[in-house]
Amino acid sequence: MSEPRIVGVNLAGRSYDIAIGPGLIDRAGALAKKLLAGPRVVIVSDETVAPLYGARLAASFTNAGIDAAVVTVPAGESSKEFAGFGRLLSDLLDRGVDRKTTLVALGGGVVGDLTGFAASVLLRGVDFIQVPTTLLAQVDSSVGGKTGINTRHGKNMVGTFYQPRLVLADTEVLDTLPRRELLAGYAEVVKYGLIDDPAFFDWCEANAAAVLEGDAAKRTYAIEQSCLAKARIVAADERETADLRALLNLGHTFGHALEAETGFGPDLLHGEAVGAGMAMAFDLSARIGLCSESEAARVNRHLASVGLPLRLRGIGGNNSRTWDSARLIGHMRGDKKAAAGRLTFVLVKGIGQAFVTRDVDEALLRGMLDAAIAA
Ligand code: NAD
Ligand code: GLY
Repeated sequence: MSEPRIVGVNLAGRSYDIAIGPGLIDRAGALAKKLLAGPRVVIVSDETVAPLYGARLAASFTNAGIDAAVVTVPAGESSKEFAGFGRLLSDLLDRGVDRKTTLVALGGGVVGDLTGFAASVLLRGVDFIQVPTTLLAQVDSSVGGKTGINTRHGKNMVGTFYQPRLVLADTEVLDTLPRRELLAGYAEVVKYGLIDDPAFFDWCEANAAAVLEGDAAKRTYAIEQSCLAKARIVAADERETADLRALLNLGHTFGHALEAETGFGPDLLHGEAVGAGMAMAFDLSARIGLCSESEAARVNRHLASVGLPLRLRGIGGNNSRTWDSARLIGHMRGDKKAAAGRLTFVLVKGIGQAFVTRDVDEALLRGMLDAAIAA
């Protein structure tokens, strides 16, 4: 059995490891045992992932002498609402969770954000472990301790910074992930190259097909590089106070507006929105003269080549949706990243040269959006 790759997240007393590799679901109990406050875990999963991996994960804990139960929530973003959150807390308390119980999030970003938030407030805080099962969760949401739920004011408007004790990214579970979800996660992989690692973007261009087709070594490498990048940024700016962690929001101001316009639903997945948003960030940067048009075109070409939806027309198979640049800008203002009404963008001076700015000429922004709508 090959040893997993380990990436450390260095946060003083809250440091933890991310283990990446095949077969980790079956080794979870042995790997986690020494970190547990007591011999009991409750696995939180969703109704799609629990039947696939819940019993195997629970068995790996019981085989290690740890009591394990599985609680499920409905699959999808709707579980990240107050009502679902309240039901989960009650379910956990009904099962007699105590302060020495560890919660284990088995699923994508929805389960991870929800379980992490529950762990941060339940009995004033219990430990939790992330077992991310989507590519997006393995390279982004399970790492860095952002937890939260949505309100009618927007996504992730209520939440905490609360770090897991361990992240176990089992690369084999990606085999059951629908291709569309895999691609959405791949957009977040590319993001790390675009932020500050041009060599990794080159690698992505050369290896995207292998990563997406299931090459185990390349998948592991892509996840490891992504986690290394995220761990480095989170260690330097855990609470996003220094315009450093904010770089991870490359593509997110645009992406958030697209998600808001499409109702945060199945028409446009979060990772798809980030992919389209990154292409827009490069487009706007080129129009402002910050980066070359050829680099913007290169990024667009790579994202389109893997099959990410970049054209607004046709998103979610809907050619008749009416897009409006003023409405999109309105959504950007409602984003929690906007400070005192000023839009915040991550723009680029080139591939691997991202920076945060609050000085974007609104006429240029509107011109870029109008062109994207017409394309
Ligand atoms: P998700 O959790 O909804 O999972 C996508 C779908 O795939 C679900 O239907 C799920 O049941 C299914 N699925 C998961 N793993 C599977 C597997 N191995 N095989 C088959 N099906 C599987 O979506 P996501 O893209 O993982 O996460 C999106 C969420 O993450 C959003 O709520 C977003 O706000 C959040 N997020 C959080 C952070 C953070 O830093 N905390 C970062 C990025 C995104
Ligand atoms: N996904 C952005 C962050 O974790 O900060």
